[in-house]
Amino acid sequence: MASGLPVVLLASSRPRGNTFALARLAFAEDQVRLIDLGRHRIAYYDYDPAGDDDFIALVRTIIEAPLWILATPLYWYTMSAQAKTFIDRLGDLLDRHRDLGHALRGKGFAVVCSGTDAQLLSGFDEPFALTCNYLGMRYLGSHYGRFTGDAFALPDTAADAAAFGRQVEADCRSDTR
Ligand SMILES: Cc1cc2nc3c(=O)[nH]c(=O)nc-3n(C[C@H](O)[C@H](O)[C@H](O)COP(=O)(O)O)c2cc1C
Repeated sequence: MASGLPVVLLASSRPRGNTFALARLAFAEDQVRLIDLGRHRIAYYDYDPAGDDDFIALVRTIIEAPLWILATPLYWYTMSAQAKTFIDRLGDLLDRHRDLGHALRGKGFAVVCSGTDAQLLSGFDEPFALTCNYLGMRYLGSHYGRFTGDAFALPDTAADAAAFGRQVEADCRSDTR
């Protein structure tokens, strides 16, 4: 297993909004490194990239982490555009930066998602699971936290999020899953 702290990749338009709060409930501040994708220049995937943005440099700083946790709000029933752009750019690691692509193998990947709907659509996890499978990463599942405005909708949201965080970290440590 790779060394280093797990990384939370915050993919929200609000750096201190519901998604951030949910990620913090699931993963204690001193146990993960939080990276706000909004503070980095990450262009859309380009078949013929013209110039450099921050993506590859960012990946180099997180490639040793054993676990990546994507923290996204639910936007129109799916992940945010920031989250999707980050995932699209993993395509760069399959050709131009294969050394980094190889380093993804065996890494854990999980998702925390905040929204106002009662639950996620049934197919929410599928793109993450299939992408992880393609890249050789281990998909460890998602956790949905429901909010009403800026307050938690459910009294057990905090406990549920913390339980998910513990489970994901344990699953990541275990090589059998
Ligand atoms: C463009 C947009 C689309 C949204 N679509 C959904 C949706 O499909 N389902 C849902 O439950 N909430 C939806 N929401 C609400 C957000 O998911 C919710 O408020 C979330 O907790 C916001 O997280 P944040 O504070 O990190 O931005 C949407 C919000 C925005 C701005």
